[in-house]
Amino acid sequence: MTAVLVAHAGKTGGTREIAEVVSEELRALGHTVDTRDAADVADVTPYTAVVVGSALYYSRWRPSAVRLLERNVAALRERQVWLFHSGPCGQAASLVHVSLPASVAILAASIDAERTTTFGGRLDPALVRGVLPRLMARGSRVGDFRDWARIRSWARDVGNHVSSHVSL
Ligand SMILES: Cc1cc2nc3c(=O)[nH]c(=O)nc-3n(C[C@H](O)[C@H](O)[C@H](O)COP(=O)(O)O)c2cc1C
Repeated sequence: MTAVLVAHAGKTGGTREIAEVVSEELRALGHTVDTRDAADVADVTPYTAVVVGSALYYSRWRPSAVRLLERNVAALRERQVWLFHSGPCGQAASLVHVSLPASVAILAASIDAERTTTFGGRLDPALVRGVLPRLMARGSRVGDFRDWARIRSWARDVGNHVSSHVSL
């Protein structure tokens, strides 16, 4: 049995829900999974593999996810690490692979993380706080663009990779 951490960072719950579904798939493959807000993760050493997911806001990762990577570079380098971010809404959601923000890309390289995956996001004006953000949460980008089949399939790939790595 393999201990996996799934850490998430967002503002309106959409990324947390993705992390929960990823965790569900990993558990179904027999892994022991902790699903945590990135802000609550102090130590990654109990885990064999780590998944970190952040929402994208203004082309950036949430600070708590960046801090998790920054503070644990050495330990993460010794572990299998998968990153995802969630954000694109509207037409772009199914087409776009978003590159990591530069500062996160540097961290990902030093950790030797797997290639980052982009998942569509959910934009719900009722959940968005602030005048400017609310102005952005309008039009064809409003809605839930998370592709659950894709998310589940990615999570199973991660889970199978973890298993095969551990059994080598
Ligand atoms: C103010 C604002 C800025 C956003 N900026 C981006 C962005 O730069 N890139 C992107 O792909 N999505 C962007 N989004 C979409 C969010 O990433 C998307 O709604 C995501 O699912 C939110 O996740 P959360 O519910 O975990 O906070 C933005 C949304 C808002 C409200």
